[in-house]
Amino acid sequence: MTDRIRAGIVGVGFMGAVHARAIRRSGGIVVGAVGSTPESSRRATGRLGAERPVETVGELFETDLDVVHICTPNASHAPLVRAAIAAGKHVICEKPLAVSRAEAEELAGLAAEAGVTATVPFVYRFYPTVREARHRVAAGTSGPVRLLHGSYLQDWLAAETDDNWRVDAAAGGPSRAFADIGVHWCDLAEFVSGHRIVSVAAQTMTAVPSRGGRPVATEDAAVVLFRTDRGAVGNVTISQITPGRKNRLWVSIDAEAESLSFDQESPESLWIGGREMNRQLLRGTSESPAAARYVTVPAGHPQGYQDCFDAFVADSYAAIAGAAPDGLPTFADGLRAAALTEAVLDSARTQAWVEVKS
Ligand SMILES: NC(=O)c1ccc[n+]([C@@H]2O[C@H](COP(=O)([O-])OP(=O)(O)OC[C@H]3O[C@@H](n4cnc5c(N)ncnc54)[C@H](O)[C@@H]3O)[C@@H](O)[C@H]2O)c1
Repeated sequence: MTDRIRAGIVGVGFMGAVHARAIRRSGGIVVGAVGSTPESSRRATGRLGAERPVETVGELFETDLDVVHICTPNASHAPLVRAAIAAGKHVICEKPLAVSRAEAEELAGLAAEAGVTATVPFVYRFYPTVREARHRVAAGTSGPVRLLHGSYLQDWLAAETDDNWRVDAAAGGPSRAFADIGVHWCDLAEFVSGHRIVSVAAQTMTAVPSRGGRPVATEDAAVVLFRTDRGAVGNVTISQITPGRKNRLWVSIDAEAESLSFDQESPESLWIGGREMNRQLLRGTSESPAAARYVTVPAGHPQGYQDCFDAFVADSYAAIAGAAPDGLPTFADGLRAAALTEAVLDSARTQAWVEVKS
């Protein structure tokens, strides 16, 4: 391994570009980037700032790389992770890690056996305000958590004319809205509260029955009731068909002494509710060291989504170099998300409470 981490990217769409920026900002080198065709790979070389043109995944994995970033549609994650680990690389694989719990379990096992760093971008963990909320719960400031609730709402699939590979179960997996964004909400709620969701009662809904002339088999929305391992209860609404909501991940952790709420579309502040007074903690002002570690510019100069990715990749690279950064989402968290997704689909199908297996 050189001093600077050498990275390869597979998948050169929205996420491929976000990862490329994060690699550079973390001091890494984008060695090569591969899309679904040789032409898209060639076009991506300049756009993503890659060191050299590479046309195929096989060619990329043969180069002198430390880590592979997998940013392709969900169903291709498993074969690419297997190949990357077999080639001796560390892996950063986009969520959902896999399209079934069994497949995610296999990948987590392979990574552990190979002893490679294997992480999944649950990047909302990297907002300083989220770290502050987590710190307040862990330090006992908030008191015992009683309720977790919220929603993750988007509108980009609200119309019948909206389409994407995610709609197709063969490319996206059997769950769409929940596996795509619901897993982010659950990861965040569990990360902040320290609780784990142990059972779920879910309803899923496909509001748009056909898109692009094909029937739709994946859900546009899901509503989930749940219980946690430490006696809290909660609920979450997940939707990709809510007009006006672009990427509205909102979570409330209601504990005995205070409630904490975070809104991904206004991530610069944490709402802290009390019986006598409510407060709004502004990022960059008075955080704990756990949060201050992720503050990169002074208060009043907004940080955002790309900054979370930069911090996530920097921490993944620190792990590759032998460190153990607190709160780094790994394949174990990817497996957890797959187990939650399976339980949500099972519950919706059987119309019964289902235990989460993990
Ligand atoms: N962590 C996050 O916040 C976040 C946000 C958005 C998407 N994602 C995840 O990132 C992944 C990619 O999503 P996106 O929004 O970037 O999709 P996208 O459609 O914008 O890009 C996908 C890219 O993969 C390429 N591709 C498809 N099959 C390939 C293959 N077999 N080999 C090489 N390249 C291939 C396509 O040509 C395209 O460039 C998905 O798994 C998605 O769930 C994560």
